[in-house]
Amino acid sequence: MQNPVRIFEDIKTLVTLAGAARKDGRHVQEEDLSVIHDALLVCAPDGTVAWAGPRTDFKSDTIPGAKAAETRSLENSTVIPGFVECHTHTVFAGQRAHEFEWRQQGQTYQEISAKGGGILSTVKETRRASVEELHASAQKRVNAFVRQGVTTLETKSGYGLDLDNEVKCLQVARRLLGPRIVSTYLGAHSRSPDHKDLQSYMDFMIQTVLPRVAQDRLADRVDIYIEKGFYDTALAEAYLTKARSFGLPITAHVEQLSDSSGAELALAFEPQSIDHLVYLNDAAITKVAQSKTTAVLLPTSDFYLKMRYPPARALIDKGARVALSTDYNPGTSPTQSLSFTGVLARVEMKMTLPEVLAAYTVGSAHALGLGQQLGSLVQGKQCDFAVLDCDFHELFYSVGNSGVRGTFRAGKSLLNP
Ligand code: NIG
Ligand code: FE
Repeated sequence: MQNPVRIFEDIKTLVTLAGAARKDGRHVQEEDLSVIHDALLVCAPDGTVAWAGPRTDFKSDTIPGAKAAETRSLENSTVIPGFVECHTHTVFAGQRAHEFEWRQQGQTYQEISAKGGGILSTVKETRRASVEELHASAQKRVNAFVRQGVTTLETKSGYGLDLDNEVKCLQVARRLLGPRIVSTYLGAHSRSPDHKDLQSYMDFMIQTVLPRVAQDRLADRVDIYIEKGFYDTALAEAYLTKARSFGLPITAHVEQLSDSSGAELALAFEPQSIDHLVYLNDAAITKVAQSKTTAVLLPTSDFYLKMRYPPARALIDKGARVALSTDYNPGTSPTQSLSFTGVLARVEMKMTLPEVLAAYTVGSAHALGLGQQLGSLVQGKQCDFAVLDCDFHELFYSVGNSGVRGTFRAGKSLLNP
């Protein structure tokens, strides 16, 4: 049966982000939040926004099917676009709390990785886990994101590393329910324990795994970790060239722990995003700002690793489009808290509240190549939104307090379906 038109009424404040979307998420100012008081939001049968505006301007005869619409009161609350979490590692088994303690006692992330901890310890646990176990734990985490207003979630593989286990994790990602899922193949996450060196593992990915990922559409895009002690630019170039030959969109972890020239290399492939950017140099800042690539900033991982923070102000002031995300993973960022991410962006990276809001909606939609479909509540885009139990000025203020009491994807509630 076809969905009815859905009219959401009693919206005290509707924050559409229309202005930010028109500016492609660049140079966002307060007015670009495009705030409407006493608003109405209308969802078409196909799940897109049919109309968004002041209640008194709404004319039902201009919307087909509006006469027979289902009406739902949002009880005088504030509505914002659903959050887009554009960088997570949500499918994994086990935890690494002991490594957190080792880091407090002075060991570095790289030292722990070099002795087989870090990513490789999660690989061990993930290989042992069944599809059902992985799915159950990942789905719980997905639900925790949804409770915070997330309507689109990206998740990466990279804790399987061999063919069967990467395929297993990607299949788990495809089975996750609730938000829109964007699944990313991150085989080039670490050295693999099954290969004598990075080069032979790279050859295996290029000859075997990437073709399989592309042919069976196991993932929507491809990622790599370019960093000292992990993948250098020569290996990355071979991997990204192969991914691009299949038409797979590209993203990359770059300059997280050092300036390893990853940004420069990745930008040559016109990636959807480059992520982390803590050690991005001035020339690269200018390059990103002038490109179509979104700069994804992940301040919770910088917090947990006691790093400095990425140059958000320089990026934004030069015109880059930035996005924020939790980088949720068991090692460098064991938190799913969007509020924590946004508070760090404001306190440590000097981003304004409008910049944070735009980064978590318009910016992160672009980071996933979905800027035309998601991120703002304007006609024709997906009717994905969060209902707040506070004023939007109270978002990204109280760590641990999401302020969200309802999450709707394509006009349907994900919290109480
Ligand atoms: O984004 N740095 C590479 N990947 C993750 C860490 C994954 C892990 O430590 O398990 C990150 O920080
Ligand atoms: Fe990451």
